[in-house]
Amino acid sequence: MPTRRAFLSSLGRPAAAAGVLTAVPVRWDRAMTAAREIARTPGTPEELAADEEFWVEIQQAFTTDRSLVNLNNGGVSPTPAHVLEAMKRDLDFANQIPVYNGWQILEPQREGVRQRLARQWDVHPEEVAITRNASESLQILQFGHELEAGDEVLTSTQDYPRMVTTFDQRVRREGIVLTRIRLPVPAEDPAEVVRLYEDAITPRTRLILMCHMINLTGQILPVRQVVEMARGHGIPVIVDGAHALAHFDFTIAELGCDNYSTSLHKWLFAPIGNGLLYVRRDLIPEIWPLMAAAESRDDDIRKYEEIGTHPEANFLAIGEALTFHQLIGGARKEARLVYLRNYWAEKLLELDGVRLHTSLKPGFAAGIANVQIEGVETGPLRNWLWSEHRIFTVAINHDEFNGLRISPSVYTTIEELDRFVDAMTHAARHGIPA
Ligand SMILES: Cc1ncc(COP(=O)(O)O)c(C=O)c1O
Repeated sequence: MPTRRAFLSSLGRPAAAAGVLTAVPVRWDRAMTAAREIARTPGTPEELAADEEFWVEIQQAFTTDRSLVNLNNGGVSPTPAHVLEAMKRDLDFANQIPVYNGWQILEPQREGVRQRLARQWDVHPEEVAITRNASESLQILQFGHELEAGDEVLTSTQDYPRMVTTFDQRVRREGIVLTRIRLPVPAEDPAEVVRLYEDAITPRTRLILMCHMINLTGQILPVRQVVEMARGHGIPVIVDGAHALAHFDFTIAELGCDNYSTSLHKWLFAPIGNGLLYVRRDLIPEIWPLMAAAESRDDDIRKYEEIGTHPEANFLAIGEALTFHQLIGGARKEARLVYLRNYWAEKLLELDGVRLHTSLKPGFAAGIANVQIEGVETGPLRNWLWSEHRIFTVAINHDEFNGLRISPSVYTTIEELDRFVDAMTHAARHGIPA
């Protein structure tokens, strides 16, 4: 008969597994029911996208607050209950004796998470660092490239403010030059987007920063083509994929990019405080880490993970979130998110004065869209939806456009979208109180 230790070892998580056996994760049963439902439901992702019975089990894996309607899942996502349980289990376990359970048992298991993330997005594990968010991944790249006074960095007026602030600090500190181009809203011609970046390149351009998906509108940009064009000029592109990974279906490999940065607490539904940094293997020695690492680690992707003492539990919970993502399936998830977007957007577009700042054409956006009611101010509309209807949205007031950013998720119900559509219909027809 195997000893308890041997049995636990066979599960692959010797001591932490003790926690696994005693705590049955809340709603894990719902995730399992969803898995069975998925396994026996035939159909293309598009057919399944409209099958409410199929999605009801996925919805139940989240313990979200149903007294309100959360249409800001782009900001950060709730994590499914069983993923949170996995994290809590490891936090408890590490706390028993952090120097042993945390450092010696849990920390090495990060390698398994690295391997799984790499496998999922078709890159090599030695090219994947686990970070705390997209900001950290991006700042590693933004500060890690050496630049001299007068060197130029090219980005757009729609790139994420924190990433612009990061380069602005280098402008103030080191005298680099930041150039920002305007992109069409929406941008439905990839060749035009590539041309706009290329036209702004000068002999001093050293780096380009671009979004894979713009947070303001959900616009998907042609990363592969921009990277190819820039490579022709010898210019690396920093790709901000904060919103893209696990939202729509692609692999990092197919982008052909030198690096990729994303948050995993947005569309992978991992617990808050998780991100990924991909750096092509041969480029790792060239890019400095944000926190110092030993010279012996110069060509090791783990140099980007030298952050000092930290909890390992949230990093390991990425594995649980990834399994949930695989259970849904990347293509099915994208199709459902597009279906939910079209559900509300097509209804609202029938109303006078409603405009979308997001393309509904395939490939140019997915679950996020930006909607404006002409004649109704966006900020007050956002406040009215919240105070009167308990519907949470984001007001985007950009110099070039404004509107509400709407981002439902796989746990969003049709009834919740109907409530949003009804409220917006009222606002479009009658306005909102001053
Ligand atoms: C385009 C973009 N880049 C970077 C970030 C930073 O992500 P995080 O706050 O998770 O670090 C965000 C966050 O919303 C974003 O939308």
